[in-house]
Amino acid sequence: MSHDEFPTDRPAVVTCGLPYANGDLHVGHLRGYVGADVLNRALRKLGQNTAYVCGSDMHGTPIAVNAAEEGVSPEEFAMGWHETYEETFPRFNVDFDNYGHTHDETNVGTTKEIVRTLEREGYVYEKEIMVGYDPEADQYLPDRFVEGTCPYCGAKARGDECDEGCGRHLEPGEVEDPISVVTGNPAEYRERVHKFFRVSELQEYLQGFIDRLEGTSNARNQPREWIEGELRDWCITRDMDWGIDYPGEDADDLVLYVWVDAPIEYISSTKQYSERVGPDTYDWEEVWREDGEVVHVIGRDIIQHHTVFWPAMLHAAGYTEPRAVAATGFITINGKGLSTSRNRAVWADEYLDEGFHPDLLRFYLATNGGLQQDVDFSWEKFAERVNSELVGTVGNFLYRSTLFAERNYGGTPDADVSAEVEERIEEAIAEFGEAVNDYSIRGVGDSAVRLARFGNEYIQREEPWNLTDDDPEHAEQVIRDCVQLAKAIAVLFEPIAPGKAAELWAVFGGDSREVRDVTLDAALEPPAAEFDEPTEPFEKVVDERVEELNGKLAERIEASASDTEDDTTESESDEATDDGSGDVTTDLDPVTDERISFDDFQELDIRVGRIESAEPIEGADELVRLTVDIGVETRQIVAGIKQLHDVESLPGTKIVVVANLEKAELFGVESNGMLLAAGEQADLLTTLGDAEPGERVE
Ligand code: 2FM
Ligand code: ZN
Repeated sequence: MSHDEFPTDRPAVVTCGLPYANGDLHVGHLRGYVGADVLNRALRKLGQNTAYVCGSDMHGTPIAVNAAEEGVSPEEFAMGWHETYEETFPRFNVDFDNYGHTHDETNVGTTKEIVRTLEREGYVYEKEIMVGYDPEADQYLPDRFVEGTCPYCGAKARGDECDEGCGRHLEPGEVEDPISVVTGNPAEYRERVHKFFRVSELQEYLQGFIDRLEGTSNARNQPREWIEGELRDWCITRDMDWGIDYPGEDADDLVLYVWVDAPIEYISSTKQYSERVGPDTYDWEEVWREDGEVVHVIGRDIIQHHTVFWPAMLHAAGYTEPRAVAATGFITINGKGLSTSRNRAVWADEYLDEGFHPDLLRFYLATNGGLQQDVDFSWEKFAERVNSELVGTVGNFLYRSTLFAERNYGGTPDADVSAEVEERIEEAIAEFGEAVNDYSIRGVGDSAVRLARFGNEYIQREEPWNLTDDDPEHAEQVIRDCVQLAKAIAVLFEPIAPGKAAELWAVFGGDSREVRDVTLDAALEPPAAEFDEPTEPFEKVVDERVEELNGKLAERIEASASDTEDDTTESESDEATDDGSGDVTTDLDPVTDERISFDDFQELDIRVGRIESAEPIEGADELVRLTVDIGVETRQIVAGIKQLHDVESLPGTKIVVVANLEKAELFGVESNGMLLAAGEQADLLTTLGDAEPGERVE
């Protein structure tokens, strides 16, 4: 079954993975919340009835552990962070229609109702299992209260997740050589009766679901391995005080596993919105009970929860399955893993306190790479994109054209829009619509930036400043076109830069509605006949600012390195160190002492290639199957670049290939050659000029 294109006549809900109410927000968090916000705003622009909901994730062991450390109750601890998030998100123009939390009455009620339904439908059973216990602390050790070794890959793992190895969800009792994080002592295993959800019975359903699922390819492909393999039942209770009590009298000392009640907040938060605005405006039951459009934006580390456990739960309890799961890559800082404990992060408050407009960061995070790709944040790259695209392309066109219009005509000249410009705006509208249907946040931004680029070329080509005297009619028509383009850009750019779009709209929009609420057809409606002198929408970030910000970041990292031994890394690549120079650089290997002869080098047959097609290899987290034209023939090459590049945009890319490397088999797929790439981000080697596929690299 394929889904109807957006806009559909059913209401949609866009959600973003709930933040644990557990610490300050940083750019890593913002990427997801901004991405989902862009998607929701863009859907609204298509005319889709949609809501963006989320909430704080209040339960779970990390919160219980941190609250205990601070000597406050988990509820007080989590509520404090929840209130901070409620204030922070709007400051980034993240416009939730409802932001609740998992401990509120609505979510407790919805969760208990769903669990009771699962029980009633026969999906829940009891089983005696071994769970970790710390005799000294006299407490059970659920999830992160215990650490040990992953039974699947041997990596160091937390009780519920192999976070440093294969990424699998671990069931209670699975982690080997368990150590209590409370006392550091080896944990004992004790028998306890827990509740299990029969996910295994839903295998056939899940196979169909994953075939129907839209979103990013990582979220559609990664789960196949789990769904098609042995699907195990899921323990849904924990020996803890903090959480939602298991409903029913036979288990009153158990709470629900945090991953049961957390996604249910998506439903609860939608309900709260619906109750506030009334079902005529937005009806949560149409969404969650009658096949509405459920779109989840998440981090790629929680794909399994959203494509296996969650749809299984929804299906078994009679709720709407997700239409799409879009999973984002991670954020790195200066090429290294973001690390809150090392203070290698750019914090949400810090960014705003530096006086930057939120839309600049939104633009950077939303458009710097495909959604699945890891995005590196550095102040240099941030400045570069702001200066070249926002100031140089978008801002430049908007300002020069509307200033010219205001100075010469007091607003929009009285002329018709040319067919060329009208068609170009229609093309941009079509690109925007395609991007939304492809869940391409970057594509949404690109449609506006490309239109601004066209605007610059157009005004440069027509040179209206040379026409005002000799051909005033033509000058009027060109400027009429330019103001129309400016208006269209404001409409198309609103999802990415809502604050700036609103400012522009107020000047020349000529529409009493807010730009947030207009649909794409407003891009072709007449702009204001008269308007005031515009101001430049974006300001350059100068080199001195970049230096200053780099200095502050390096200082913080250094200070925190001396403060703490503890090192919690939040993405896989945290290999680098601060070299103390003020620049944070990746550890570089020394150049090897051993020299090879020129003849040895000549033995390598290195060729220019061009990627013809690229597709993720099912079940393999990193691997992509490429067909590469190397001039003399076409090769199949397997490369470990899935998480680091937008696979869909690889075809057409010129690369450099070692063509005479022994064939290898990766994940059962033959690889006939190797592409060359640099560094942890697998920066693909290419050629500067026009070298054709097949030419030797010497
Ligand atoms: O991984 C996390 O940060 C979780 N708090 C996400 C929960 S998303 C959901 F399903 F609710
Ligand atoms: Zn593992």
